[in-house]
Amino acid sequence: MKAQILKMLREADGYISGQQLCEKFGVSRTAVWKVIRQLQEEGYEVEAVRNKGYRIIDSPDVMTKEELESLMDTKWAGKNIVYYDEIDSTNLRIKQLGDEGAVEGTLAVADRQTAGRGRRGRSWDSPAGESISMSILLRPQITPNQAPMLTLVMACSVAEGIMDCKDVCGEQQIQIKWPNDIIIHGKKLVGILTEMSTEMTWIHYVVIGVGINVHQQTFPEELEDKASSLDLAGAQSVKRAELVAEVMKRFEIYYEQFEKEGD
Ligand code: BTN
Repeated sequence: MKAQILKMLREADGYISGQQLCEKFGVSRTAVWKVIRQLQEEGYEVEAVRNKGYRIIDSPDVMTKEELESLMDTKWAGKNIVYYDEIDSTNLRIKQLGDEGAVEGTLAVADRQTAGRGRRGRSWDSPAGESISMSILLRPQITPNQAPMLTLVMACSVAEGIMDCKDVCGEQQIQIKWPNDIIIHGKKLVGILTEMSTEMTWIHYVVIGVGINVHQQTFPEELEDKASSLDLAGAQSVKRAELVAEVMKRFEIYYEQFEKEGD
């Protein structure tokens, strides 16, 4: 109910009355008020005005299941969300879910990874509160040799999602460094790791993992001249859950196009 209330508050043109919410969810005014209080405690600025109702004024940069669900505007990509405050690696979680038969589009999101995986056996640092770590499960009807294209489908979706963020836009040089990285001013902002479970000619599933540096102010010495974050690039107001939802919206469109046209 929390995610749905959040969504309704966001989509409302003005106030939503307590009565509307009670009727929609078939609960008491006290139950609605409890959810509103919870949201306020989590940092959401929700105004409550007598005889008018509730209005959302601002949201914090939180990544919770409810926040992600309330923002997701897709048919299948990221519709089934598994969220972790801390996990070893979202790619590993999605592989496990892939083996267990989870639906296409299942998205694992973590605030922090303790064993984030990069390409070529490297590790990937995902500090809490500062980055986005997410992996999506796909079951494409393509041959294994076509699968690397999916990395590009994701790279385009992430690059566009970022370009859409306030304060980043056109003046900044966001580039896709073929085939797995997104860079800004020549420094890496995003890493993508695509993994598959296949047979010779058939794909069981594909996992595309995306790591985005959002609020990092510093990087370890060895990465200092190679890595950047959205904050360092001047986009300090980015809300991570909003960016996840933006990327998923684009990914769903481009993936369907890729499936149809094979390009
Ligand atoms: C690279 O540039 O080496 C690829 C980095 C990919 C990191 C992401 S973070 C989310 C997902 N889970 C992982 O363990 N890795 C990917």
